[in-house]
Amino acid sequence: MAISREQEEILIKKSIEAAPGAYVPYSDFHVGACVLGEDGNFYTGFNIENVSYGATTCGEQAAVISMLTNSSCRKIKALAVAAGNSCDSMPCGICRQFLCEFVESPEVPIYSVAMDGRYMVKPFSEVMPYAFMNFEKDGTDK
Ligand code: THU
Repeated sequence: MAISREQEEILIKKSIEAAPGAYVPYSDFHVGACVLGEDGNFYTGFNIENVSYGATTCGEQAAVISMLTNSSCRKIKALAVAAGNSCDSMPCGICRQFLCEFVESPEVPIYSVAMDGRYMVKPFSEVMPYAFMNFEKDGTDK
């Protein structure tokens, strides 16, 4: 279940590299994210704000949507979110529920990455305890 050191390094680097692309005219808070899919590929995203603030898409969601729309992969092996100068940007509540649908197991590592590369990592089960989720599902549309 654990990812390799090489995969970890790529995941962290790609999350940092995604942040500058964020569309953030209201908060100026750049969030980059990267997902490692079960297929071994990396998918990135960033936050996309809207003048109607509630219509904003978070970086984590954008990365997962990128995986879903650009591949047939439906399971996440790891996720990194990069923002700010400390390792304390964990996915927001809405993102946590969104991730419930696609994490491959409760052990999936969630990395909170500072823009200088420092990071904190927690299993999804710790980020989202008592989650409303269904690990029986295989990710297909049946
Ligand atoms: N944001 C994310 O991209 N991910 C989160 O988990 C929390 C917040 C974004 C939304 C908004 O564009 C900016 O950060 C400030 O809240």
